[in-house]
Amino acid sequence: MSIDPSEKKIIMITGALMALFIFSMLYGRSKYNDLPECLPFDKAYTEPKVVELDKKTYQVYAVASMWQFEPSQIYIPTGSEVDFYVSSKDVVHGFNIHEKNLNLMAVYGNINKATVKFDKPGVYKITCHEYCGVGHQNMQSEVIVNDLKAKN
Ligand code: CUA
Repeated sequence: MSIDPSEKKIIMITGALMALFIFSMLYGRSKYNDLPECLPFDKAYTEPKVVELDKKTYQVYAVASMWQFEPSQIYIPTGSEVDFYVSSKDVVHGFNIHEKNLNLMAVYGNINKATVKFDKPGVYKITCHEYCGVGHQNMQSEVIVNDLKAKN
């Protein structure tokens, strides 16, 4: 017994779609190689701070809690690359940088890391996008990107 031609067609189309799907995943992975990662917990990350590694490279230890982000303002020069290490002191919060396509969760006992490059000067709002209680809508901070010297 042979396979019906229309069935054969469906199998080929399905195979092509699967190949396309796998290809697009691999392509996405190679194009955006700075995907967020989850680091082993270390208490050091729960102290909010901005570290200047060099003139264009920064680390931000961003700590969410009910209902604020610390540090609340982050000053960096234009063209900087920033590694965000995001954690929470209490419940689950969100960490969303507007216009930067960055969405992380801030989870107690976890450190989520992502790298973001700021090529254009401006004020980039950070908001919480996980409902975390009555003060949820007040949770925001900002990254201030300009050509002046950073003043953290
Ligand atoms: Cu924190 Cu919503």
